[in-house]
Amino acid sequence: MSMETIKTECQEALAVVENADQLAAFWAKYLGKGGEVQKLMAGIKSVPNEEKKAYGQAVNEIKVWVQSLYDEKKVEIDKKAMMARYDEEVIDVTLPVKEVAAGNLHPLTCIKNEIIDVFVGMGFDVFEGPEIEDDDHNFTRLNVLKDHPSRDMQDTFWLTEDLLLRTHTSPGQIRVMDAQKPPIKVLVPGKVFRSDSDATHSPMFSQMEGLVVDKHITLCDLQGMLDQFVKALFSDAAKTRLRPSYFPFTEPSVEVDVSCFKCGGEGCSLCKGTGWIEVLGGGVVNNKVLENCGIDSSKYSGLAFGIGIERIAMLKYGINHMGKLFENDIEFLKQFKA
Ligand code: DAH
Repeated sequence: MSMETIKTECQEALAVVENADQLAAFWAKYLGKGGEVQKLMAGIKSVPNEEKKAYGQAVNEIKVWVQSLYDEKKVEIDKKAMMARYDEEVIDVTLPVKEVAAGNLHPLTCIKNEIIDVFVGMGFDVFEGPEIEDDDHNFTRLNVLKDHPSRDMQDTFWLTEDLLLRTHTSPGQIRVMDAQKPPIKVLVPGKVFRSDSDATHSPMFSQMEGLVVDKHITLCDLQGMLDQFVKALFSDAAKTRLRPSYFPFTEPSVEVDVSCFKCGGEGCSLCKGTGWIEVLGGGVVNNKVLENCGIDSSKYSGLAFGIGIERIAMLKYGINHMGKLFENDIEFLKQFKA
């Protein structure tokens, strides 16, 4: 085939190429091994010496030219194939999707995590004790003596003469002090059990115990920590107020109120017009409790507090019945999606 014929033929052949197979056939016929361009190359043997150079150049030009025609066509064919695939794989984004319900943390878990975050930020560790306790840890070593009213059958779920469902997280204090010597800074979250049930009580509820034991710990340290706690949980403007109280394991003992975060202290339905809401109990660890755990009370002192988690959740989220927190009503729980 002459150079001129190849040129015209190539153009005509490419003009009708429509897909990758036809393009491959074109390549084989003109540019491949033994194809027309190679045949032209081979023809150099029969060209007189003085014309070889010009002949070689001319064939080379043809080769480059055919290659460029091929490349151009390949871009076009590839694009066409891609567009065809797009058309085939088209997705109708207007179709309604199947809704997948994403879960969320239970409000009690949220509050528990929030409280832990605040105190871990102050250097506290977290310890969890058993839900089945003995008399010794739950009462006696916490200085709750044999005739104390909180041992009454109505409050405590006794399992045997000695074993019971813990009535508070305070036995965690004893377990930590048995295992560890001061300085101690620990939080004990957990479920507790009492035979009691109404709008603001449930036979099972959750508490968070706090215990700090070190040299020179005073009631001021307790109030300082709790101030930080109520600010983080309720509002920057929240303040605490300590009122004298009584717990066998603390001396002195206090009830801690937070300034009403709804009315800011003016008096409203939430704080029953007083401007203050009771949130927890605490105090300076009774020396007897330290001594019961082998800690020298002439060297060390401690502070302790116990927070009712449901109560905090109810106050913070405006929940009026504690039972709602345990019913697993999805419509109710969905509201607490963070
Ligand atoms: N254990 C108490 C209760 O369940 C709460 C409490 C009060 C814990 C004072 C303390 C504390 O650590 O110091 O009612």
